[in-house]
Amino acid sequence: MTTYAITGATGLFAPLVIDQLLERGVAPGDVVAVARTPERAADLAGRGIQVREGDYDKPETLDAALAGVDTLLLVSGSEVGRRVPQHTNVIEAAKRVGVSRILYTSVLRADTTALVLAPEHKATEEAILSSGLTSTLLRNGWYTENYTDQLATYLAQGVVVHAAGEGRIAAATRADFAEAAAVALLEDGAESAVYELAGPAFTYDDLASALTEVTGTSVVASAVFATELTEILTGAGLDAGLVGFLVTVDGDIARGDLDGDSAELERLLGRPVTSLTDAVRAALVEAPQAV
Ligand SMILES: NC(=O)c1ccc[n+]([C@@H]2O[C@H](COP(=O)([O-])OP(=O)(O)OC[C@H]3O[C@@H](n4cnc5c(N)ncnc54)[C@H](OP(=O)(O)O)[C@@H]3O)[C@@H](O)[C@H]2O)c1
Repeated sequence: MTTYAITGATGLFAPLVIDQLLERGVAPGDVVAVARTPERAADLAGRGIQVREGDYDKPETLDAALAGVDTLLLVSGSEVGRRVPQHTNVIEAAKRVGVSRILYTSVLRADTTALVLAPEHKATEEAILSSGLTSTLLRNGWYTENYTDQLATYLAQGVVVHAAGEGRIAAATRADFAEAAAVALLEDGAESAVYELAGPAFTYDDLASALTEVTGTSVVASAVFATELTEILTGAGLDAGLVGFLVTVDGDIARGDLDGDSAELERLLGRPVTSLTDAVRAALVEAPQAV
């Protein structure tokens, strides 16, 4: 029997992975949900899942969190700039306690891309590879939710302003990436692997068309220069750090850094990746007041 541990158990990603493991026949008692605030994972504990404290910043919590675990999914942390030492703490603990396989939520082409967020993922991948543990690098593309979460704003403004030109975004839903992670966890995993995972690529024009088609409200895409986007977002009250990040990501998109091929994700899912229009439809169900 294999014991699986998933970190980030109180986040959005890990619970979707855990649901998929259970749906695929893993017993709740064979799943360890690792959270830095385990009290916030009472729902998982109530379902018979082992909930343990594990804080990436506190190595002293990690050995106990991973004791007896065979296969670990390290969900990349959310504290940009601090993640390399944090992830390294988890990798070192995994090695110490005898975890035999580690999976990691990385980013598309982490080893070669110029994507602004990639350096921490690349460094984490290197730490995993040099640990000698068998590994599966889940190089996830962008979440479709990065856009569908903005549904109300897009509809209110009737425009999606961007600085990505004709750049393509091969996004997939968080749920699709999580399902693929569960499938990868359940693979035999005897050999290390790298999966480049992406959805059906779309441009901002395609996004605006999908928003219009699904909601019946006209939305157009407006391509501007990076300097103009900076002014617009700053004028809208966003803080300078977020403005810089969003403008940089659009530059990355323009360069093709978030483009990709959906074949590997489809292979893991055994079905087509959720389409952009279906993702917008789902967002509308979640937020019907947006129209
Ligand atoms: N592909 C994309 O478009 C995309 C977008 C956003 C993020 N990501 C990456 O993918 C990961 C999962 O994405 P998500 O948006 O679904 O995030 P998420 O799972 O909701 O959040 C990340 C999880 O990491 C946990 N975490 C952060 N710092 C930690 C620490 N010091 N010790 C233990 N746990 C810690 C958080 O714990 P708490 O619950 O306690 O906060 C949270 O549960 C993100 O963390 C990020 O690295 C990818």
